[in-house]
Amino acid sequence: MDHFLYNGGILHAEDVPLPEIARAVGTPAYVYSAATLLRHYTLFDEALAWGPHLVCYAVKAASNVAILKLLGDAGAGMDVVSEGEYRRARAAGVPGDRIVFSGVGKTEGEMRHVLASGVRQINLESEPEMRLLSRVATEMGLDVPVTVRVNPDVDAKTHEKIATGRSDDKFGIPIARARAVYAEIAALPGLRVVGIDVHIGSQLTDLDPFRAAYRKVADLTETLRAEGHTIERLDLGGGLGIPYARSNLAPPVPLEYGRVIQEEVGHLGCEIEIEPGRLIAGNAGILMASTIFVKAGETRDFLILDAAMNDLIRPAMYGAHHDIVPVVEAAPGAETRPFDVVGPVCESGDTFAKGRDMVPPRAGDLVAFRSAGAYGAVMSSEYNSRPMVPEVLVQGDQYAVIRARPTFDEMISRDTIPEWLSDA
Ligand code: LLP
Repeated sequence: MDHFLYNGGILHAEDVPLPEIARAVGTPAYVYSAATLLRHYTLFDEALAWGPHLVCYAVKAASNVAILKLLGDAGAGMDVVSEGEYRRARAAGVPGDRIVFSGVGKTEGEMRHVLASGVRQINLESEPEMRLLSRVATEMGLDVPVTVRVNPDVDAKTHEKIATGRSDDKFGIPIARARAVYAEIAALPGLRVVGIDVHIGSQLTDLDPFRAAYRKVADLTETLRAEGHTIERLDLGGGLGIPYARSNLAPPVPLEYGRVIQEEVGHLGCEIEIEPGRLIAGNAGILMASTIFVKAGETRDFLILDAAMNDLIRPAMYGAHHDIVPVVEAAPGAETRPFDVVGPVCESGDTFAKGRDMVPPRAGDLVAFRSAGAYGAVMSSEYNSRPMVPEVLVQGDQYAVIRARPTFDEMISRDTIPEWLSDA
């Protein structure tokens, strides 16, 4: 469910008509709904209400500080994977003891920063990492709460590029090695085991892989406890998928996911942490674009938008589907025909959809890419020197620019001509 609905034939973000935002901010632009973000966070929070838990929003999905503040104020923790994300969460007012630090390649500098500023736990992913953290923590006189991310060798049945829990993936420690690794950590100074971490992939639309992974974590919890380790927290990762096409069957909802967690690990008495990103932010954001041209090709028609692969890379990178809808609804019964929907970037890969049936738009008409709130703006770039796409947050009948589009001068002035090349 989201809060992007037609009212009087015009697509709104909550109570704000999208054309009003387009007039004020220009296009392309991301627009988020605060009510949708909060609703999705609350669904997860309620799904785990059967026991102690913390929903740690995966900051990577949409990391604007205003979004983090909205979720943090509602009680969310944060899952971060870099010093930059950690700093964003802190800038949003989230206390360190609600921030979990994940990631396969944390640097010593990043470790020092989060340890000095406060962190809930560090999810370790390799033996070299735990030795480095032990040295850093000891030098800083700290005892750091840690979990080990185990790789359960479960196929998440999702896109190749976003599956993370098979033994061929770079993530985590093979679950078969977990006992040895926990034994080594127990002997290292500066580290204090608090639990186990697992994350098997993203955009999962089936609960069975979660169930399989969580069952392995439950078994491991008992094994490790029998060996004297304190396992009081289970970080069960993120990954619950969203319906990208309205016509598709809806994937499981957070309540069903929460039930699977309860069934598989509820008896262990652990505090549960989860790290959802996509389900919180995905359907809480759209990318709004304008039609530049409708161009007749030899074999097909092209709808050329002012948004491009640099603004939303998911179709080019993963072959991802996003519904593309008109902001001003077409007359009922208006005829549709197929279009290749493309951007202005000089690559054939700059294609959002092929043969998409649409009522033919006219130059200037606005369209919205649905389900673009997660892994949209955060993965954008200035390729082809297209200034970074702006972000807008709507709440009720108010909206605010939460990241402005840079001017061309701002974009260009970040570059420096070395003295030995200058004209002077
Ligand atoms: N926790 C960890 C350790 C992760 O690596 C991820 C996502 C999450 C949580 C959040 O997963 P989510 O609930 O959002 O599925 N750029 C890709 C998605 C990459 C996901 C990376 N890790 C896309 O656009 O589909």
